[in-house]
Amino acid sequence: MMDRQAQNEPGMNESGDARPLRVLITAGPTREPLDPVRYLSNRSSGKMGYALASAAVALGHRVTLVSGPVALAPPDGCRLVAVETAAEMHAAVERICRQAPAPELAVLAAAVADFRPATVAASKLKKGGELRSGLQLRLEPTEDILAGMRSRFGFDGLLVGFAAETGDLIANAMDKLRRKRCDLMVANPVGAAAGGAGFDSDENILTLCYPDGRTEAWGRDSKDRLAVRLMELCTRLSRKLQDQS
Ligand code: CTP
Repeated sequence: MMDRQAQNEPGMNESGDARPLRVLITAGPTREPLDPVRYLSNRSSGKMGYALASAAVALGHRVTLVSGPVALAPPDGCRLVAVETAAEMHAAVERICRQAPAPELAVLAAAVADFRPATVAASKLKKGGELRSGLQLRLEPTEDILAGMRSRFGFDGLLVGFAAETGDLIANAMDKLRRKRCDLMVANPVGAAAGGAGFDSDENILTLCYPDGRTEAWGRDSKDRLAVRLMELCTRLSRKLQDQS
């Protein structure tokens, strides 16, 4: 029989089951090409996603990390799928979700570009050529990977998203939680509101948002510590979901 302490271990479920979970994590930015040498992207460093992957490996989980281009080494013990564009990340996540056995926990922490240039020039756009009178960019929306997890990929595990916001943090995160059918949305301020935390920082400021409207402010801390705490929480919630089904 398990003692109370052991029952509360993050890697274990109610019956003291410490089987590893199959965990899918997305991280980093995506790059959307404009021509062979230029792209549109964002300030994501991938640090939060990589810290989550590292924490998941440390808990004994089987981790697949789908990552956009970052300057970080993948944590030992995880499977890295390196992608560049939102379309590539979408295809990689779809493949992983449709394979058997499917992941049981998905944490989508990537800062996926929302738009990409509608046309990609085959050769470098030239200052003295196409760019002479300025450049008018036509953008088209990219695939929303998180929003497709339930409806298109049939993912039925614990689904966790991130909401990076410059204003109305909780209202926007709650809206995303419901629209994208997540079990948990991790809200974090970025830009001036974050006082240096968030994008490309070693620190983050997290507030957890739940489907019943509950919020839990975790405050400012290192991404490494927040990732361990968050992965322990996700492990418990994922076990609970498994016990219910
Ligand atoms: N996301 C995704 N695919 C996209 C855009 C976002 O999977 N094309 C995921 C992110 O990984 C994150 C969540 O959706 O977990 C929220 O991302 P965010 O950029 O904050 O929200 P958007 O839906 O892009 O909304 P907005 O740009 O209006 O803030």
